[in-house]
Amino acid sequence: MQPGSQQSAIGLQIGPRQLATRYFLAPLAGYTHLAFRTMLRRLGGVGLATTDLVQARMLLSQTRKSLELIATNREDRPLSVQLFSGHVNDLVEAAKWLQDRNYSGVDINMGCPMARINGAGGGARLMCDTQAAVEMVARVIDVVDIPVTVKMRLGWDDDHPAAPQLAEALENIGTAAITVHGRTRQQGFRGGVNRKAIRETVQATCKMPVIANGDIRTVEDAHSMFADTGCAGIAIGRGAMLDPWIFRRLQQFEQGRPPTDPTPEEQVSFLEDHFRLMAKQHAEYSCVIFRKFAAWYGVVLGIPEYLEDRLRRFESYDEFDEIVRLVQKHHGERQSRVPTALIKVPNGPVSHW
Ligand SMILES: Cc1cc2nc3c(=O)[nH]c(=O)nc-3n(C[C@H](O)[C@H](O)[C@H](O)COP(=O)(O)O)c2cc1C
Repeated sequence: MQPGSQQSAIGLQIGPRQLATRYFLAPLAGYTHLAFRTMLRRLGGVGLATTDLVQARMLLSQTRKSLELIATNREDRPLSVQLFSGHVNDLVEAAKWLQDRNYSGVDINMGCPMARINGAGGGARLMCDTQAAVEMVARVIDVVDIPVTVKMRLGWDDDHPAAPQLAEALENIGTAAITVHGRTRQQGFRGGVNRKAIRETVQATCKMPVIANGDIRTVEDAHSMFADTGCAGIAIGRGAMLDPWIFRRLQQFEQGRPPTDPTPEEQVSFLEDHFRLMAKQHAEYSCVIFRKFAAWYGVVLGIPEYLEDRLRRFESYDEFDEIVRLVQKHHGERQSRVPTALIKVPNGPVSHW
């Protein structure tokens, strides 16, 4: 594909929202919170972001944790809040609650593989009963005017490929868009993404945008995903952690500009600003939350292992500042040919990705 050949494809309409690009940030619970979303948006190229999944009942109870998860600001637009529940009334009430507070979209989780969430009837469990799932979404669509979208997997397992049928039914009731992670619940995060099955899901729909998701790490991966599946857009999760500049690169490519690599200064500033934004929201507790990012930053910044380890253990703002000074000095010293990072995937062990 030549740069600029996607000009007419730039942007995407979801409900009344005209999005600037076809590239969405897929939610990664514990990572894609307000600070990280804001950082990505500043780099450019993110068409839509979604909050980490929020339990509908907890939101209605306005627990501290759920209010933190839906925290947003003017820079963090457009945004959908992702809800999960096995109880339709909770979903309906939570969607209304969000609309009343000017949130501009609701995304219903039908993909989460975690036993705790599936056991309560939510996440991927909803895909086991297509009719009940569709009725649930229809009830939500009935009560709100903001776009309602769904994020799903291909089905519970290979013997129950529910996505095409579910997609068709969801389109018929007015779902604004769906995102399909190209794995089954049984697969968890193992194995490759089944692009053929995503394609079948796209083909089961007429106009509703289908957003493809899974294992996109480069501009080339995104292009081949469009070609292989016919999807309308692409959601990127772990690829955005491994390369936060991926959305900017994709947008530059579509605008016919050569994708630019971040300078080392930009990369270190990203680390600093990300932490400062987090500290604005969580004060000194951000030192604890930020540790989760150590493995990613180790890869992105190519820092020696002992520094990555310090990012995993620091306890104060001063210590963070000292680490930044060391990162500036040792940036790029550790080069791995194929960048990978350790990540704890839902319902599973730490995997190398
Ligand atoms: C740590 C982690 C947390 C996740 N949290 C969510 C979540 O809150 N909601 C959701 O719909 N998907 C969640 N996912 C799934 C991702 O959104 C995405 O579908 C999956 O990682 C595949 O896309 P990727 O290869 O681009 O990461 C999570 C995945 C990971 C690894």
